[in-house]
Amino acid sequence: MSDAMATANGDALLRLQNVESAYGPIKAIRGVSLQVRRGEIAAVLGSNGAGKTTILKTISGIIDPRKGSVEFKGQDITAHDPAAIVRRGLMHVPEGREVFPLLSVRDNLLMGAYTRADKDAVGRDIETVFGYFPILQERAAQEAGLLSGGQQQMLAISRALMAQPELILLDEPSLGLSPKLTKEIFEIVVRINRERGTTILLVEQNANMALNASDYGYVLENGRIVMEDSCERLREKDDIKEFYLGMKDEGVRGERRWKKKKTWR
Ligand SMILES: Nc1ncnc2c1ncn2[C@@H]1O[C@H](COP(=O)(O)OP(=O)(O)O)[C@@H](O)[C@H]1O
Ligand SMILES: [Mg+2]
Repeated sequence: MSDAMATANGDALLRLQNVESAYGPIKAIRGVSLQVRRGEIAAVLGSNGAGKTTILKTISGIIDPRKGSVEFKGQDITAHDPAAIVRRGLMHVPEGREVFPLLSVRDNLLMGAYTRADKDAVGRDIETVFGYFPILQERAAQEAGLLSGGQQQMLAISRALMAQPELILLDEPSLGLSPKLTKEIFEIVVRINRERGTTILLVEQNANMALNASDYGYVLENGRIVMEDSCERLREKDDIKEFYLGMKDEGVRGERRWKKKKTWR
């Protein structure tokens, strides 16, 4: 890539342009463009079926898009092999966590480090993730399948960290967790971002949590981005308040509301 192109891309670590992905005849995302700047937490908000998981799968190479491009660190990774994308420094924490249930917690963490050559540092990094999630240290020798849902989510995030990624894709970390656990996990995600400088793209139905934790947000509806802004500003928008945060604004009524219902369903 030329220097001029690098400049044109600004500080975008990840850039999607006009990405369209489908399952057979079902178009799941239709022309999604977004970028994630280095060092930030970006969020894609959307209800069930909006296409959030499809976006992440397309980025990490699990699904090949029909159209559009995915660029990571200024290089095209569209439809590249998922393992090659991991080696470039991009880790995907899938929906529903997917830990190895029969392996111990410690062995799950070691699996996250399989691409690394610096085996000495791996031991130190296990200590680091235990610092973020002390419960994992207590359960280090236990089978991961015996952990609670929240602990499995912690393990899935920790396993991703073990690869020392530059970018982590996080698919609905709040799914199935209590509000208290969700809050705890989001706090640690923010700490990881601030302390390690890891860039994070998360997708969530839980707009409240996501908007509080993130710097920049995209709203996805029926496979299309319908709004984007800083999370600070998104939190103030009436549409978001009504339909995602459940804080109905009494001042918004009548035709506008009907339109929004149609738009935001
Ligand atoms: N494996 C699949 N086969 C067919 N359709 C799918 C598949 N996975 C997802 N879809 C459809 O694609 C759309 C987007 O799904 P998804 O990306 O999982 O949404 P979200 O993660 O926002 O809930 C939905 O309409 C869903 O039914
Ligand atoms: Mg999903």
